[in-house]
Amino acid sequence: MALMSLLLVGFLVLLSPDNNEVMCAESEDGGSMLVMEKEELYGLFEVMGSLLEDPTWGEMHPQPCTETPWPGVECELLQETSTFHITKIHVGPEDTTPPCKDSAKISESLLKLPYLKTLSLINCFTKSPVSLSEPLFGALPSLEHLALESNPSLSGEIPSTLSNLTGLKILCLSQNNMSGEIPKEIASLVNLEQLDFSHNSLTGSIPEEIGMLKSLSILDFSWNSLQGVVPSSVGEMQFLEKIDLGSNKLQGRLPQELGKLKSLVFLDLSLNSLTGPMPEKLIGLQQLQYLIMEGNPINTSIPSFIGALNKLIMISFSGCGLTGSIPTIFSNLTNLTALYLDDNSLTGTVPQQVGTLPNLDLLNLSRNRLTGELLLPQDFIARLGNKLDIRENNGLCTNRNPSCSSSLFPADNNKTWAGRNPDMKPTLYQGPDTSSYSPGLNKKFVFFPSIHIFLLFALLN
Ligand SMILES: *[C@@H]1O[C@H](CO)[C@@H](O)[C@H](O)[C@H]1NC(C)=O
Ligand SMILES: *[C@@H]1O[C@H](CO)[C@@H](O)[C@H](O)[C@H]1NC(C)=O
Ligand SMILES: *[C@@H]1O[C@H](CO)[C@@H](O)[C@H](O)[C@H]1NC(C)=O
Ligand SMILES: *[C@@H]1O[C@H](CO)[C@@H](O)[C@H](O)[C@H]1NC(C)=O
Ligand SMILES: *[C@@H]1O[C@H](CO)[C@@H](O)[C@H](O)[C@H]1NC(C)=O
Ligand SMILES: *[C@@H]1O[C@H](CO)[C@@H](O)[C@H](O)[C@H]1NC(C)=O
Repeated sequence: MALMSLLLVGFLVLLSPDNNEVMCAESEDGGSMLVMEKEELYGLFEVMGSLLEDPTWGEMHPQPCTETPWPGVECELLQETSTFHITKIHVGPEDTTPPCKDSAKISESLLKLPYLKTLSLINCFTKSPVSLSEPLFGALPSLEHLALESNPSLSGEIPSTLSNLTGLKILCLSQNNMSGEIPKEIASLVNLEQLDFSHNSLTGSIPEEIGMLKSLSILDFSWNSLQGVVPSSVGEMQFLEKIDLGSNKLQGRLPQELGKLKSLVFLDLSLNSLTGPMPEKLIGLQQLQYLIMEGNPINTSIPSFIGALNKLIMISFSGCGLTGSIPTIFSNLTNLTALYLDDNSLTGTVPQQVGTLPNLDLLNLSRNRLTGELLLPQDFIARLGNKLDIRENNGLCTNRNPSCSSSLFPADNNKTWAGRNPDMKPTLYQGPDTSSYSPGLNKKFVFFPSIHIFLLFALLN
């Protein structure tokens, strides 16, 4: 109550205290009166008090919408009633905001903030366990953006009452400690544009109902333990630009409906247990730039539809059990910068067409069963440097090697190549991340033995 009286005496005049519930704050020039609903203001104090270390937050910010603002809180003036309402609470690791206290909680007083549009609590719950209580999401009709991210002690299940937040456009619960299944009720969040549950411990399957999220452009459930198949209903989400379901336990074949996603730019299904063959209907993914399938037992030959997806920038089929020879289909992929076909069972020769791809910057063919002479242009080999990797193909020999023989080459071929770039995956799909292609490796060591031989020849001539 000390806080209350300070507010009343110091800054605020209570208008008709018994019924009206409206508080007035005189503006600095003593002119117009700016008002806030008492219930809402105290609701904010309670919410901030339950989060922040600073017990004097309410005293320091008695008029958070006007005289005493705080960077993480935003308000809007409702013209009809001339009242201010809290529309945004953001508590994150920025310098401007005090950190959350060890015992931080999400207070149910949040429900006293019916105009809240954005709630973002980043790296806030790190010590004592916190869960999302069901009533919390009963009545926040204005909420559009809910981001609870990087909270290692935010645990428990995703409450199905989240589905009451029908105004939500962005829902991000990434990098918490959430477990249990994805509630199928989230399908009623029909205004959702971005849905990110990545880096949690979610189990069960992806609900088929998810296809009802017709406005979704970003779907990220990566780094969980989701099982079952990729539901065919994903094909109904026509505005999808990014799907990341990597690092789960998904099984079975991909649904051909996936090919209906005409806006899809980024598809990451890596490190699952998805099997082949991949449906030919994926030829419909005409905007696709990133196709990341590594670490799935596809166990077929390289699918031919890839050759028709001419916007592709990056293809990864590392460790997919691919068989057969490398087809010449890549010739139309003029924007391709990275092609990972390593750690498969590919046989036959390397088609020369690969060496004509004008933007190719990384070609990994290592750990296959390729044979014959590697006939790639010298300028291509020089351009790729250590990002051309053909190690561990016992039958493969390089061009310009006068004694091209499979018995000699393997002895040479483990010393002149750089190791794997640990971070080859772009984190965003918006464009090629050139910094992720082993920039630190010294080009001097990249050339093949054959280049050295070539240089030697050049010197001798
Ligand atoms: C919230 O959702 C639950 C189940 O999804 C429902 O039973 C409840 O009536 C909803 N509450 C409100 C306030 O809409
Ligand atoms: C994460 O959740 C599990 C239960 O699913 C719990 O045992 C563990 O303590 C939680 N971790 C933290 C840091 O709260
Ligand atoms: C794929 O091939 C690997 C290696 O040959 C084999 O162990 C695995 O059982 C195959 N998986 C499927 C689903 O065919
Ligand atoms: C490459 O593009 C040409 C012209 O658009 C087309 O005729 C051809 O079929 C394409 N090749 C492949 C492998 O898709
Ligand atoms: C390749 O990329 C360039 C630059 O981003 C773009 O203008 C061009 O349309 C792309 N080519 C294809 C075939 O999409
Ligand atoms: C190519 O892939 C192998 C694993 O299959 C890896 O060890 C190597 O570092 C990769 N090379 C490049 C240049 O990415």
